[in-house]
Amino acid sequence: MSEPLRRRAILAGIGTYLPEKIVSNAEMAERVDTSDEWIVERTGIRQRHFAGRHETCAFMGAAAARGALATAGVAPEDVGAIILATSTPDQAFPSTAVHVQGMLGAKNAFGFDIAAACSGFIYGLGIADGMIRSGQADHILVIGSEVYSRILNFADRGTCVLFGDGAGAVLLSARDVAADGPGILSTHLHSDGTLADILYVDGAVGQPDKPGHLVMNGREVFRHAVTLLASAVNEALTANGITSKDIDWLVPHQANRRIIDGVGRKLGMPQERVVVTVDQHANTSAASIPLALAQAINDGRIKPGQLVLLEALGGGLTWGSALLRL
Ligand code: COA
Repeated sequence: MSEPLRRRAILAGIGTYLPEKIVSNAEMAERVDTSDEWIVERTGIRQRHFAGRHETCAFMGAAAARGALATAGVAPEDVGAIILATSTPDQAFPSTAVHVQGMLGAKNAFGFDIAAACSGFIYGLGIADGMIRSGQADHILVIGSEVYSRILNFADRGTCVLFGDGAGAVLLSARDVAADGPGILSTHLHSDGTLADILYVDGAVGQPDKPGHLVMNGREVFRHAVTLLASAVNEALTANGITSKDIDWLVPHQANRRIIDGVGRKLGMPQERVVVTVDQHANTSAASIPLALAQAINDGRIKPGQLVLLEALGGGLTWGSALLRL
């Protein structure tokens, strides 16, 4: 008797957008008292992209989404929902997702933004996975798009060297598959609002002192990051009855090379199976995972059928993991 099929959200397409302007560590050192050596040693970052005026959150998100639709061979009219994760939306409302919908001509979709800082893409995958499994939509765009250069305090060398701008998008499509077939296998989402004061933006459109700058207690974030990320990763392994040896690729949120290496070591993952792009993009928050995932798929490292574990942590604190088979 043949095995029953189950409805899953498969990764049907992926696309990215990076702003034209690349800013090296040496150029950052012209703006603040820092050096290439300090930044590389503490973070692994070598350069970042900074958006020009026309490269808004919606512009970049739409560009990445077009790439995802093109690789999937799906028309904009067939998209059922657009979920966009960002901390730097074009406007308080309409949501950036709705602007992207208009730019794409995805007239049959509904769209909304989610605010989960650097964990936004994982949160988006979790929401989209639930919507696809429940039959609410057949094709969902999950987009991370960020222009952190607009909220960085360029007088604070402890934060402004760490972040960059960019966008990444995936198209998730419903497919009936066997147990060992492709698709999102699980997502695990967490937050702890008692840690809100270690990484935040000190303003918003609803506040008198808008728009605000990013503020971070780097040491405290670092202290929590490796432990919480390792716990989210272990949660995914336990829920799926597997060990880290079964994982082909770890695609972590790209905040800091030392955090990435710390989680990799805790997991026992060899460095060759961990995708790292923080050196090229710095921390692009909700965009960092789809940017890294796209690079490793497009250069042929991640292959169809392989098991990929994603993990992220960000302001909130928020954190989580997603396991998917390509
Ligand atoms: N260039 C040169 N020196 C810098 C600097 C910079 N860009 N930023 C900070 N420093 C200095 C500090 O002023 C301090 O100098 P002092 O000892 O004279 O006071 C010294 O470097 C050490 O600062 P500290 O903040 O203790 O450094 P650190 O080893 O904790 O590294 C981070 C700082 C930010 C790299 C590190 O804390 C970190 O990676 N945290 C996690 C951040 C993160 O990933 N956040 C996003 C999560 S989504």
